Amino acid sequence: MSDKPTANPSQKLWGGRFTESQDAFVEEFNASVGFDQRLYAHDIQGSIAHATMLARVGVLTEVEAATIVAGLNAIRADIEAGNFTWSMALEDVHMNIEARLTERVGDVGKKLHTGRSRNDQVATDVRLWLRDQIDLILAELRRAQRGLLDLAGQEVDTILPGFTHLQVAQPVTFGHHLLAWFENLQRDAERLIDCRKRVNRMPLGAAALAGTTFPIDRAITCELLGFDAPAENSLDAVSDRDFAIEFCAASAMLMTHLSRFSEEMIIWSSAQFGFVDLPDRFCTGSSIMPQKKNPDVPELIRGKVARVDGNLIALLTLMKSQPLAYNKDNQEDKEPLFDTVDTVRASLRAFADMAPNMMPRRERMRAAALQGYATATDLADYLVRKGVAFRDAHEVVGRAVRLGVDTGRDLAELSLDELQSFSDHISSDVFDFLTLEGSVAARDHLGGTAPNQVRAAIERARQRIA
Ligand code: ARG
Repeated sequence: MSDKPTANPSQKLWGGRFTESQDAFVEEFNASVGFDQRLYAHDIQGSIAHATMLARVGVLTEVEAATIVAGLNAIRADIEAGNFTWSMALEDVHMNIEARLTERVGDVGKKLHTGRSRNDQVATDVRLWLRDQIDLILAELRRAQRGLLDLAGQEVDTILPGFTHLQVAQPVTFGHHLLAWFENLQRDAERLIDCRKRVNRMPLGAAALAGTTFPIDRAITCELLGFDAPAENSLDAVSDRDFAIEFCAASAMLMTHLSRFSEEMIIWSSAQFGFVDLPDRFCTGSSIMPQKKNPDVPELIRGKVARVDGNLIALLTLMKSQPLAYNKDNQEDKEPLFDTVDTVRASLRAFADMAPNMMPRRERMRAAALQGYATATDLADYLVRKGVAFRDAHEVVGRAVRLGVDTGRDLAELSLDELQSFSDHISSDVFDFLTLEGSVAARDHLGGTAPNQVRAAIERARQRIA
């Protein structure tokens, strides 16, 4: 077969076997460069590693590889300087860069794609890109966690009502509450760290689907690109996007957590609760109601979960039923993945800036804890320690609460005589247990809300993320 250039009416890098040019709308429909140009730096990183490896195994000469690498570096600089024109006719980021390389360095640029396909190339690019994004997200997550620990450290002795069913349940310390948020985020970090291990496998070398006839050395590219290992199976390497789905699932969980924290900040900052003030810089006013200060930032974080959840479902649906190996469907993986990364990063940033700067209104928290019979369980536990069976103690306290409700008083406001009318086992020391301080201090074990436990938990938490 002749390698002399002949007519190529399609004008495409792949146009050799075509006899008519591409339909104009199909060109637009097919193109991904509008969004995948975002992968340019990682595409170039992968190409440089590939060319370097090809020279080491003797498929390219050292001079050829050096020319290609220099050309790719120059293209990266051009892109970053805004001196690069992306062409839809060249379809995607890969062919835009490859075509520009040949323009720049001449025919040697056409050798870059030896032993490679866009199928292993794109899978490699996305993994390299996502690995970097995971690292950025983890850094932001740690910043949020450190901020929560700082605030928790200031609020170890602050008491507010703990809720179940959004009804006052038992007093807890605000520091303890913030540590619960910390634990949520800690598991999100663990999930991302674990997901990163599966992201960090190298598809390069799988070529289109079956591998390549050239004597490539995948250990070299793997090492150059900082992957943990080359993917074991070429068909799998080019086709599965489970790593992206897994990332989106971890992101959906993280966003779910942020939505819950946001919801609490929204409730707490309402006039009815008044537990915290959010700094003005995270709020907006109303164009009609002059008194309003709206918690827009937490509301937006709460709302942005929707798109992250949607993206997860989009990717699962995209992957479902695809036969091996690569299918063009997978070009549709990028926008949901990019949007997930952007949304998570922006939401985490806003959360990490805002949450540690909430201003607790300690008197309001305390007043709320004093209403709602938050120490009823403490009274029951007190009776148990005096020898009453728990079920009977529960009944006794229920009656005491009813008296409080009927007369508009908290348990600690009932007189000793009144309390003793419900049980002979009650003596004047009971009031030590009906106070908020007594209640939280009594929960003095690992994971409990007692201030000294919270102090120790904060120290351990700092070690865990150090
Ligand atoms: N733009 C494509 C994608 O995002 C690159 C791979 C195309 N491969 C192919 N054989 N058409 O998936």
